[in-house]
Amino acid sequence: MLNYILNGVIFMADKRIFSGVQPSGSIHIGNYLGAIKQFVDNQNQYESIFSIVDLHAITVWQEPEELINSTHNVLALFIASGLSIEKNIIFKQSAVVEHTQLSWVLGCTARMGWLNRMTQFKDKAGKNKENASIGLYTYPILMAADILLYSATHVPVGDDQKQHLELARDIANKFNTDYKKDFFLLPQPIFNKNSTRVMSLRDGSNKMSKSDISEYSRILMTDNNDIITKKIKKAKTDSLKMPDTIKDAESRLEINNLINIYSASSGIDKQLVIDDFALKDIIDFKKSLTEVIIEVVEPIALEANKLINDKKYLEVILKEGAEQAREISSKKISDLYSIIGMI
Ligand code: TYM
Repeated sequence: MLNYILNGVIFMADKRIFSGVQPSGSIHIGNYLGAIKQFVDNQNQYESIFSIVDLHAITVWQEPEELINSTHNVLALFIASGLSIEKNIIFKQSAVVEHTQLSWVLGCTARMGWLNRMTQFKDKAGKNKENASIGLYTYPILMAADILLYSATHVPVGDDQKQHLELARDIANKFNTDYKKDFFLLPQPIFNKNSTRVMSLRDGSNKMSKSDISEYSRILMTDNNDIITKKIKKAKTDSLKMPDTIKDAESRLEINNLINIYSASSGIDKQLVIDDFALKDIIDFKKSLTEVIIEVVEPIALEANKLINDKKYLEVILKEGAEQAREISSKKISDLYSIIGMI
């Protein structure tokens, strides 16, 4: 394998990560453990590109001022979580026009039947699907464009994005077949073992989500220690003792979720967490869990709060990131246009 050095870091040249986070609502510990932590953990091995996907965010209504604030918040959290601005390209999706250009072409490759199978659209549109935006429906095509534009080999995401990743591969494959060229790489997802689907603290059968009406369903990456303590205290559980086997844990949705959060936050293997707390009172486990979460969230929240006040600094990072991203994306679009007969 050919390695190369950029800013003093050795990368595996044939591997490139791309991932995105929407600037809608506040980032929660599910986003962090499922995605952002993986970005940080992998940044020394892969050349990485991260986008704050504001075009995706407007598939549901966003107040313009809020959208700008949320974009800055996500960037501040990225940096506070440990993402290096020297090693990685970090930019705002709307600043790189090639995303929408490629999205149109891929929309002509994707099939209606494929999009009709997307469960996230069904979940988000709910019963009132006639009233959902077209953007919400075609959302996975823009996501495929994000990834394929940079020839990403790996995409760290939570489990909820698995189907979208499969769609991106199907689109890439059909394009390559239609035009008889190996033009798009087929990307692989990367999932975090115990936190690929962090569940709501109020209902262990629902994903932790930015849009849940209950604030107590999620820990935000900007929550202070008192709020975290309250949220964990209130987290739904049964009234039994702690489980003593993985099988027992997995039969109890809410407790299993809390154990997974503990394991993913502390880096301690799930089996060891179960052994440590076996048959103890849930209240004791919750106390330790609160400490473990605070250890993760507190330094990130403090640093993000500092960064968020320096809008100029954040804007410079976004501008430079967009310039770097465009060096890759404009070349890809120019190659694409020549393949499809547009130059
Ligand atoms: P978004 O903004 O909803 O979420 C950002 C990342 O967080 C993960 N995630 C979770 N992981 C574990 N447990 C949860 N409860 C949880 N909730 C969210 C998501 O899987 C995601 O990795 N469509 C994407 C954004 C996107 C993207 C892309 C991602 C746009 N283009 C290209 C990868 C590659 C989304 O809505 O993420």
